Amino acid sequence: MSTRGRDLRGRANPGRQGTDRAIPGQQGAGRAIPGQQGADRDWPEEDFGERDGLTDVPGGVRLQKVLAAAGVGSRRHCEELIGAGRVEVDGETVRRFGARVDPEEQVIRVDGKRIPSRQDQVYLAFNKPPKVLTAMSDDRGRRTITEFLGDRAERLFHIGRLDYDTEGLMLLTNDGELAHRLAHPSYGVFKTYLADVQGPIPKDLGRRLATGVELADGVATADKFRVIERSGSRALVEITLHEGRKHIVRRMLAEAGHPVSRLVRTDVGPIRLGNLRPGTTRELTTAEIGELYAAVAL
Ligand code: URA
Repeated sequence: MSTRGRDLRGRANPGRQGTDRAIPGQQGAGRAIPGQQGADRDWPEEDFGERDGLTDVPGGVRLQKVLAAAGVGSRRHCEELIGAGRVEVDGETVRRFGARVDPEEQVIRVDGKRIPSRQDQVYLAFNKPPKVLTAMSDDRGRRTITEFLGDRAERLFHIGRLDYDTEGLMLLTNDGELAHRLAHPSYGVFKTYLADVQGPIPKDLGRRLATGVELADGVATADKFRVIERSGSRALVEITLHEGRKHIVRRMLAEAGHPVSRLVRTDVGPIRLGNLRPGTTRELTTAEIGELYAAVAL
């Protein structure tokens, strides 16, 4: 882990990396604020600017401080966002810099996107290697994802599963509500996979997968399908689905006559695997977390 932030009460914050998180359109992250005495500058008790319907939480934390600690940007940039009416607390636009809020309980949004204001919450992307079990332990002695998570493992939920042989993007968090919704079929979060399959690929395969393939536990349909590359008797295809039954991609493609020899998940909702190295994790950005919340109506 690189730079560790401080939480809102000045404790070391193991789950945050501060200014490397960005809200789209942010300009001020990491900028020095003239005259500011470090992160502990605070505002006097009187409030600033317009009134609003928000009741200050006694003993709460200044809104701009909460935003900055969540990685939205420098304190100055957060004040600009507040002044511009781009920040909401529990659905109420707040333009006062001095507003005191409870970051553990209140829902804070910037430009309509929720920010992760709770300091104990961790959001990670992990590139699962093949031959690793999506479990915290295994009584048969196989490698599990715990090996890659160090001392955070106990606190994290993996969002959905990847097969033992499947590689790629897995999200991990200790935010139970987000994990529950992302894994729940009713939210229909899209997942995209790259599959190395047996070819040749007939012209109508995409249509067939979109119409639905009959499996033992019911019909499965693809939301998107495209051929990325054809080489000899093999092909690389990309398939997107919004459901998560066991071995679903392998079973669909096998049933359609194109068994999979390698499967990599590249996207979960708005989050991309990118060039994250196998076996490593990275913290999601504030913007990515906001997109995830939005994907499951949080
Ligand atoms: N579909 C599969 O076949 N395997 C996975 O791990 C995920 C989706």
